[in-house]
Amino acid sequence: MPPIESIDSNQSDAIEVFKSLSAGADEFEGYANPHATRIAAIADQLAKSFHLGARDRFSLRIAALAHDLGEVAMDRDYIRRPGALSDDERIDLARHPLLSEREAADSGADRGAQLLVRWHHEWWNGSGYPDGLRFEQIPLGARILRVADSYASLTDARPFRRAYSEKQAREHLLEWAGLEFDPRVVKSLLALEPFKELKGYTQEPEPTQDLSVIADEIMERVQQLGGQG
Ligand SMILES: [Fe+2]
Ligand SMILES: [Fe+2]
Repeated sequence: MPPIESIDSNQSDAIEVFKSLSAGADEFEGYANPHATRIAAIADQLAKSFHLGARDRFSLRIAALAHDLGEVAMDRDYIRRPGALSDDERIDLARHPLLSEREAADSGADRGAQLLVRWHHEWWNGSGYPDGLRFEQIPLGARILRVADSYASLTDARPFRRAYSEKQAREHLLEWAGLEFDPRVVKSLLALEPFKELKGYTQEPEPTQDLSVIADEIMERVQQLGGQG
């Protein structure tokens, strides 16, 4: 067995490889602010709050960095075009998790990370893609990615909308908890202590938010949904 140090340095080499691939993807998407590295940081905090082991946390960070590499591989003009997608474009874009999975594999991601990439658009209630998995069929890491990806996207501007405030993004997560998102992951995100990557990019001043109210609401919702998984 190789010494622990060499595993660590292999892992940090892999992180660097995927960081640079993800920077290329952010640039391709036309994002003004880093997206993939931000999701990786948020996902890692969530992974810690679920006490995931070092190996799973590593796979999750790689998956966060690789999640949308398939969009680069697809190279479609509509990705950076302002305005909503047509139905055909939406169906076409839904292929990206499978292509991202392949890109991740080609760049040396472990199989666990590849599968998290494949399943980053699965929904808690089973109406996501590509495989329509639901509840605990979706690995926890992929459920974490879904929440981290959504929060990071919402709090940043997109060609078709302004950035949501942090409060609006939290309310969106709450509203879709139990549908798109695993309620326990939403609850954990709402409970995170503030850190740099959690900060949104809205231009408007953040209203002061009473987190305890949101925390009570999510607890109620988790209890309502408690029997499901
Ligand atoms: Fe995606
Ligand atoms: Fe994303």
